[in-house]
Amino acid sequence: MCGIIGYVGKKNSVPYIIDGLKKLEYRGYDSAGISILQDGKLVTVRAVGKVAELEKAALLASPQGTTGIGHTRWATHGKPSEENSHPHTDCSGEIVVVHNGIIENYLVLRAKLISLGHKFKSETDTEVIAHLIEENLKHIRGNNEEERLVKAVQRTNKEIAGAFAYGVMWAHAPGLLIGVKNQSPLVIGLGKTESFLASDVPAFLQHTHKVVFLEEGEIALLRAGRVTVLDKTGAERTIKSVKISWDQKTAQKGGYPHFMLKEIYDQPQAIEDTLRTARADFGKILGLDTPALRGLQNVHITACGTAYHAGLVGKYYIEQFAGIPVSVDLASEYKYRTVPHKSKTLAIAISQSGETADTIGAVKKAKELGFRTLAICNVLGSTLTRLCDSTFFTHCGPEISVASTKAFTSQITAMYALAISLGLANGNVSKSSFDKLYRELMHLSKAMSEAVKMEYTVRHLTRKIYKADRFIFLGRHVHFPIALEGALKLKEVSYRSAEGFAAGEIKHGPISIIDKGTPVFMLMPQGPLFEKMLSACQECRARGAFVVAITTPDAEQQAKSVSDKVFLVPPVNEFLQPILMVVPLQFLAYWIAKRLGCDIDQPRNLAKSVTVE
Ligand code: M6R
Repeated sequence: MCGIIGYVGKKNSVPYIIDGLKKLEYRGYDSAGISILQDGKLVTVRAVGKVAELEKAALLASPQGTTGIGHTRWATHGKPSEENSHPHTDCSGEIVVVHNGIIENYLVLRAKLISLGHKFKSETDTEVIAHLIEENLKHIRGNNEEERLVKAVQRTNKEIAGAFAYGVMWAHAPGLLIGVKNQSPLVIGLGKTESFLASDVPAFLQHTHKVVFLEEGEIALLRAGRVTVLDKTGAERTIKSVKISWDQKTAQKGGYPHFMLKEIYDQPQAIEDTLRTARADFGKILGLDTPALRGLQNVHITACGTAYHAGLVGKYYIEQFAGIPVSVDLASEYKYRTVPHKSKTLAIAISQSGETADTIGAVKKAKELGFRTLAICNVLGSTLTRLCDSTFFTHCGPEISVASTKAFTSQITAMYALAISLGLANGNVSKSSFDKLYRELMHLSKAMSEAVKMEYTVRHLTRKIYKADRFIFLGRHVHFPIALEGALKLKEVSYRSAEGFAAGEIKHGPISIIDKGTPVFMLMPQGPLFEKMLSACQECRARGAFVVAITTPDAEQQAKSVSDKVFLVPPVNEFLQPILMVVPLQFLAYWIAKRLGCDIDQPRNLAKSVTVE
């Protein structure tokens, strides 16, 4: 994530940049910084914490200049600290860069640049961009400094790999701001006498509604009131601006009416970004060498709420692929029960925020027991990540809506990657099976892009059922936790009564609450337990339930014969399937809450992160 803003115009750029950063704060908020070109020199101000902290520091330093860039950070490489805050500079301090995304080959580049005499000041991947441009400038000739800078940026782009967007300024090319877009967002704003670049439109919407959307691999050259765009081949292309009619608030949510809806749609990208980490060496993530990985004998998972449901899915994965026994506890329970000490235990704590008091308490207990600890967490630098021995980051960016959606699917994705890697390390999964499972995992983001197309179908159904008194969710095996999650999501945002059960359990009690018209959602993709789910459908229907079958296309006809409505989810391997099955349930919760007029992003009585016991 992270937010980038740049201004070049006739006025002092500082207020434009600080204001833009405030609008981008939803993209990251662990530190922020600005660089302003003042009298031929770059003045940089950075601060840890929210943009308000930066604003105070900027007031004291009071830089002035008509060209500047700013950044609000969501840490990915290097802890949140002033040294790791953007903008980053080269050795001379004359080139500044702000960046969003990940430079995948930064370690190789960093080593090469160090061998050439470059001195690094931060742990970030971003800093390599500034040094690479500096290095490339040494070998580039041109008619003027602006032309040389453009060429150096083009050469740099050929050397860096990954998904990124960045802005760059050079003290020797005043009045020129360069923006680069490659698979991370970057938009250009066209004012009369000023030009903007930003990660998102709200950053400059107050000043202009004329926007240019860049294509992948393009470079924008911004000058006061004039913008040129170079395409992938380096040729200048004609630019067409679009008039954005959004108001400020809508724009911040990417045009969606609520963050929850936006975050549901963010899921393909969130999975993609999380898997970037999963491609790394797992021994390294876990901080264990191969013999230690092989020797793991127990796994304890602790988490709260939605993250706990991800942990429940993780148990199926680790036991299936790595053959290691797993216990899953609500963190608040783990803390206060007797946990027998067993050697070679890995304690995994799952948390979006990394600040949940109960989860932190559970990890402290695991540490006292001498267990190795791993966090699966979305916030770098959070208390949990500092406490645990190692961390697997889910790179899904800030989740703003109280109801967790993209963090959940990213957490399960991370658990799957972890489980198959443990299985490969301890020999429970052969190399050829691992390769197949891994390939399937790498296609998940694409399947998720299909799954999010279900909104309209789900929305349409909610018109019929949104006034029901209670909702039931049933699933088996890996879909049992999804039933729990479907019920939690609906409860949280719509305040309706909702319960999730293991489908095999209904006859042992829960079936008594099914009445005429009770909506029952059946998670029943084609697979080994499909027949059993068909029976559960019939049992519920016989009691008058309104049965919605959520299944895969190959089972559509059979599902139709026992239900009132069928939702089709794209098919993937049986263990990845739950990650897609939850999507219609997320839309369901959203649309029922919307029809009931609830405060979707900030439901009553709930906080995004529960930092007290
Ligand atoms: O930040 P965490 O993942 O540790 O938060 C845990 C729960 O509080 C959280 O998942 C909560 O249940 C969400 N509101 C669910 O949507």
